[in-house]
Amino acid sequence: ADERAALKDRIRCLLKEREAVLVAHYYVDADLQDLAEETGGCVSDSLEMARFGRDHPAKTLVVAGVRFMGETAKILSPEKTILMPDLDATCSLDLGCPADEFAAFCDQHPDRTVVVYANTSAAVKARADWMVTSSIGLDIVKHLHEQGKKILWAPDRHLGSYIQKKTGADMLLWQGSCLVHDEFKGIELDLLRAAHPDAKVLVHPESPESVVAQADVVGSTTQLINAAQTMAATTFIVATDNGILHKMRMAAPGKHFIEAPTAGNSATCKSCAHCPWMAMNGLQNLAEVLESGRNEIHVDPEIGRQAKRSIDRMLDFAA
Ligand code: 13P
Ligand code: SF4
Repeated sequence: ADERAALKDRIRCLLKEREAVLVAHYYVDADLQDLAEETGGCVSDSLEMARFGRDHPAKTLVVAGVRFMGETAKILSPEKTILMPDLDATCSLDLGCPADEFAAFCDQHPDRTVVVYANTSAAVKARADWMVTSSIGLDIVKHLHEQGKKILWAPDRHLGSYIQKKTGADMLLWQGSCLVHDEFKGIELDLLRAAHPDAKVLVHPESPESVVAQADVVGSTTQLINAAQTMAATTFIVATDNGILHKMRMAAPGKHFIEAPTAGNSATCKSCAHCPWMAMNGLQNLAEVLESGRNEIHVDPEIGRQAKRSIDRMLDFAA
């Protein structure tokens, strides 16, 4: 505990010395989330991370999350230095959608508007017409559908089919998935709900259809935290990475949160749903990158310019 406290002190000093700001996601270590908040940075979902990083005057942003979040920050602010605790922190959705295969898929369907999820590489975003996050994907596809557009969606098939069902849009789906959310199981969730009949079910839309179908609220990490805070219920079953529970408990003290069951684990499993790449962010490597300036994110400027158009479309829509 002393070591942790000392590391946190060092990070606070280094952030000041470097005039850097920490931008964290809700799935990273609780210490990092707390540090981000108390030092004037932010902890939030992907949309807010992108907006916060773009609008903050600091010249250096340290992004505690996964690689696509650092790349998005760089694309939006090419003049800023973007550091990440571990550059190998990727995402199964990004890995499952290589830019060359994706470009070939798009070429086969030139009549479709290309909408990609934030969890993709800069090169995939550069090929897209729109980038969306989980908090706003539904509204944007609804808008495109109302304009009569047919959509090519990548890479998360669960989020894609959820949006497709909600909007009735014509969507051709890339077949990617998140290795964390894909593990939530509908049958086990049904049993857990029977044991907690008053519980409300909060689900991230990267979860399979059988899980989303049982949700009281489907939304981004920020939207799920807001629901936990504002809904009258006192017990919630949460189907997303368990890193979110730290903030949920702070936002809704006195309420009770139960992790949704994952494959092969009992309903009481305490640590099954946690992203291995988010978990690569720690106090130690955060302190190290602040000290050394290593682990800078670079995006090819031309790809960055192309990708920025699809991100800006979303940000303008959200404004
Ligand atoms: P949010 O934008 O909802 O925070 O989701 C990001 C993510 O990677 C979920 O797995
Ligand atoms: Fe990617 Fe899933 Fe990890 Fe989110 S939780 S970063 S979607 S692998």
